[in-house]
Amino acid sequence: MLKLKTEEEVALMKENAILVSKTLALVGRMVAPGVTTRELNDAAEEYIRANGAEPSFLGYNGYPYALCISVNNIVVHGFPSGYRLKEGDIVSVDCGTKMKGFNGDSAYTFPVGNISEENKLLLEVTKQSLYKGIEAARSGNRIGDIGHAVQQYVEGYGYSVVRELVGHGIGRCMHESPEVPNYGVAGRGKKLLPGMVICIEPMVNAGKKEVYILDDGWSVTTRDMRNSAHFELTVHITEGAPEVLSTFEFIENKNVEL
Ligand code: MF3
Ligand code: CO
Repeated sequence: MLKLKTEEEVALMKENAILVSKTLALVGRMVAPGVTTRELNDAAEEYIRANGAEPSFLGYNGYPYALCISVNNIVVHGFPSGYRLKEGDIVSVDCGTKMKGFNGDSAYTFPVGNISEENKLLLEVTKQSLYKGIEAARSGNRIGDIGHAVQQYVEGYGYSVVRELVGHGIGRCMHESPEVPNYGVAGRGKKLLPGMVICIEPMVNAGKKEVYILDDGWSVTTRDMRNSAHFELTVHITEGAPEVLSTFEFIENKNVEL
């Protein structure tokens, strides 16, 4: 199902996107050594509900929490737990909301206290690769142009792009057509059209691209146990420049009220 959105629908999606963005910022402001990932999850769930939305991940295909919280070598879909964050960790937080019939979905990888230069570069390159993907998300371009832009940038640093998990269309359902891989060939794949709303979400491994799923049935880890980062934004394809519905502004500008 590939549904083009009307302006009215995009406006409702933007409300979700902003709530997700603010929730991520709330969590980001809590991230510190000693905090458990369960505390982050619970604060996010409370905030989402207080703002009149549902945490869309909870119960999705049986997923048991409001957030996915993935520390260090965990790529995505990590379970919140009693694990206490420690200085030097990197922690990916992925959040989804549903209200007014539409979904929001975004993710950010936070440093815990002071992190190594190696980890700083991994976070910076992964976030920049998302912006490279967004630049390619223009009407008339194709899905492969997005993946190509992300992959090209990431591999230039000797990092690798996860293949098994991809970005996606979003709307009344969290996952809609088309799939948006973070790798690909320029000029290939479905044409991007005004009214499409997609989530671009590079998952970037410091080492090799291979991953596997842990015994909990969800947590995806790098096979080589090196770290991985993940950033995700929701993007509306227009006649002109892509309109990014979610934002890292609340995270990166700590003075903004939530
Ligand atoms: N946020 C993920 C995505 O970007 C989905 C989370 S999986 C869930 O596609 F099961 F937790 F919902
Ligand atoms: Co997503």
